[in-house]
Amino acid sequence: MARILVTGGAGYIGSHTCLELLNAGHEVVVFDNLSNSSEEALHRVQKLADKTLVFVKGDIRHPDELDQVFQNHQIDAVIHFAGLKAVGESQQIPLVYFDNNIAGSAQLFKSMEKAGVFTLVFSSSATVYDEANHSPLNETMSTGMPSNNYGYTKLIVEQMLEKLAQADARWSIALLRYFNPVGAHQSGLIGEDPQGIPNNLMPYVTQVAVGRREKLSIYGNDYDTIDGTGVRDYIHVVDLANAHLCALNNRLAAQGCRAWNIGTGHGSSVLEVKNTFEQVNGVAIAFEFAPRRAGDVATSFADNRRAINELDWQPQYTLKDMLADSWNWQKQNPNGFN
Ligand code: NAD
Ligand code: UD1
Repeated sequence: MARILVTGGAGYIGSHTCLELLNAGHEVVVFDNLSNSSEEALHRVQKLADKTLVFVKGDIRHPDELDQVFQNHQIDAVIHFAGLKAVGESQQIPLVYFDNNIAGSAQLFKSMEKAGVFTLVFSSSATVYDEANHSPLNETMSTGMPSNNYGYTKLIVEQMLEKLAQADARWSIALLRYFNPVGAHQSGLIGEDPQGIPNNLMPYVTQVAVGRREKLSIYGNDYDTIDGTGVRDYIHVVDLANAHLCALNNRLAAQGCRAWNIGTGHGSSVLEVKNTFEQVNGVAIAFEFAPRRAGDVATSFADNRRAINELDWQPQYTLKDMLADSWNWQKQNPNGFN
């Protein structure tokens, strides 16, 4: 049992991870400014786990609020989800992204050092890989300049953490490079609740299914892929949440900074996702083909063997499970947590 500070714990991946942490017997302190989430998610997590967690409303850019949390709670390790993630918005307001994701992260690491807490799991992204690499992407491949400012903040924080671990052997850091998280807890009580028009495929599909959007635009049908549409490695959010527990166990017993891909190792095309969603859930998804989206690559999927071999982790859920659970969440909560 450990006491874990979860920044951004009220969000999509954070809430699912809090549930798995509680189920595994850990104590959880969530630190979140609720800028992209609702406290209702945490109420539901506690209901599902039949256990309580501590919620502190605060901002990682505010050192006093962070220091206070470390003073008030004997924290053993931190899982750091807090940050902004809208790719398009990051192009319009880069400074807000640099401030939240880079400066906010640096502030968190300062407060950790001050409190003597050196075990960290960081939410990174497959977007840090150089686009010239071919899938399956593995952790020894080069990183490159991401096509957007959001991705850039992930790369910078990864590099910052590598340098921190090189400079001070007390640090033990996991960089988890997520592929495409989708799905929801099987209960349908927690799930992804994006604000405004979804940027990502899965919430867009479920919002078309529930009648909130007219039709899906499929960005590009002339890629060099199985059916011309983009191929991605979709990973169930519960598998992803469990990867954090595995990484935490690994890091509580090791030093240094190490990256792990968290994906299934299998790519699915946009058409395959749409068709499988229709088949599994019995709901039609209206769609049209649209031009390619700037910054997209044809294919991205993980070589996940390092995570499987080193973290004692194994993804359990299939694409069908992901699509059934996404829909179960959306239809039970047509307007998200509102
Ligand atoms: P999310 O927006 O649902 O969760 C992020 C949480 O952080 C929210 O609850 C938000 O209120 C909080 N937050 C934001 N800025 C904050 C700040 N300054 N101080 C305190 N709290 C703050 O997003 P998510 O999908 O759960 O993503 C979690 C993490 O994983 C993010 O760092 C994201 O960049 C990363 N990630 C997500 C994906 C994805 O597809 N969802 C892919 C790769 C990486
Ligand atoms: C996107 C971001 C990436 C970020 C990730 C998770 C871009 C270029 N990349 O990845 O930086 O880490 O989200 O937040 O934005 N698609 C459609 N129609 C839609 C939406 C998506 O056809 O309405 C297609 C895309 O072209 C892609 C696939 O679906 O082929 C998946 O898209 P998305 O869910 O946005 O994820 P990524 O592009 O992989």
